Amino acid sequence: MAELTNISLARGAPSIDIVAVDELRAAADRAFERDPSGAFSYGTSAGYPRLLAWIAAKHDVEPDSTIATNGSMQADAFLFRALVEPGDVVVVEAPTYDRTLLALRQMGAEVLPIPLEADGIDVEELARRLEAGARPKLAHIIPNFQNPAGCTLSREKRERLLQLAREHGFTIFEDDPYVELRFEGSPHPTMLSMDEGNAVVYASSFSKTVCPGIRVGYLVGPPELIAEIRRIATGTYISPNMVAQSIVAEFCHSGAIERSIATVKRALLERRDATCEALERHLPESRFVVPEGGYFLWVDLPEGSDVGRLQASALERGVTFVKGTDFLLEGGESSLRLAYSAVPPEQIEEGIARVAEAYRELVGTAA
Ligand SMILES: Cc1ncc(COP(=O)(O)O)c(C=O)c1O
Repeated sequence: MAELTNISLARGAPSIDIVAVDELRAAADRAFERDPSGAFSYGTSAGYPRLLAWIAAKHDVEPDSTIATNGSMQADAFLFRALVEPGDVVVVEAPTYDRTLLALRQMGAEVLPIPLEADGIDVEELARRLEAGARPKLAHIIPNFQNPAGCTLSREKRERLLQLAREHGFTIFEDDPYVELRFEGSPHPTMLSMDEGNAVVYASSFSKTVCPGIRVGYLVGPPELIAEIRRIATGTYISPNMVAQSIVAEFCHSGAIERSIATVKRALLERRDATCEALERHLPESRFVVPEGGYFLWVDLPEGSDVGRLQASALERGVTFVKGTDFLLEGGESSLRLAYSAVPPEQIEEGIARVAEAYRELVGTAA
């Protein structure tokens, strides 16, 4: 019997064929040639200056408003340490990125989930909760091609969120690692750029535009808060990985990043289309919002579907995905997240056919 190929629709990571390996090698050569003492020394906790300059120019801020970290996960952890005390209320989208949920709960935060709609968080539900007395310190928002739901926050909702933050005195944590991966529709401005006060702290990452193994992400925010986070960073690791940051700086300044983003977007669009077509063909009862970019698609199966059993049964067929329940404090039992970022289109078709086969077996209507 032919061996079953394992197909992972679980991991939010790119496949190696869309990582610009040769351009990265060339960028490393140039970075080491240009500034060996900067690349190979400890450096400062703020990050590699040439990279901070690029980030600051991109977001039209001064470099003292930025810190570059070892992946944006590290940036998130520093921000939570600076702002969140046990018992503080933190708004999250429901569903949301499982690692954020876990980090907040580990810190003893009181998580306030607000449902997500096709155009982003339900801002009027948030307004009602605020009117009813909720006093959040922070609202964690993934505005573009949300992980796990794939949806994007509309411009109107961005404005409304900023207004609510101003009125109720909470900080918006705009967690935006997928922003560059838009393959259709028009982009919306970041809340950071729309903010007229100090209501927004913005995070992004080079994991999706360069590669995740490089572990470089960053924060942009009010200089006093960034100074506090730089102190936390010094105490944690002296300085982040200067070798990696010098390579990313060269990759960005040389324009290689634009070519890398174009390659990634081309592949992701094909993979997104293959996912939607395969779902329509093999699982017509599934409901989903077609993402305009990014890595993920959220699938709702008919109510009463048991996604835990579906996951186990799909695993026997060599396919993995993440259960909806992992991204929520409550609910998600009939939903799943499919990541199409790591799988070529033919394998996506095969993977979804196998998930559909597992589903039919569970509902007792084997095709
Ligand atoms: C919403 C969100 N935030 C943060 C991260 C972490 O990214 P990084 O690789 O930069 O640590 C991810 C990674 O998947 C993510 O989806």
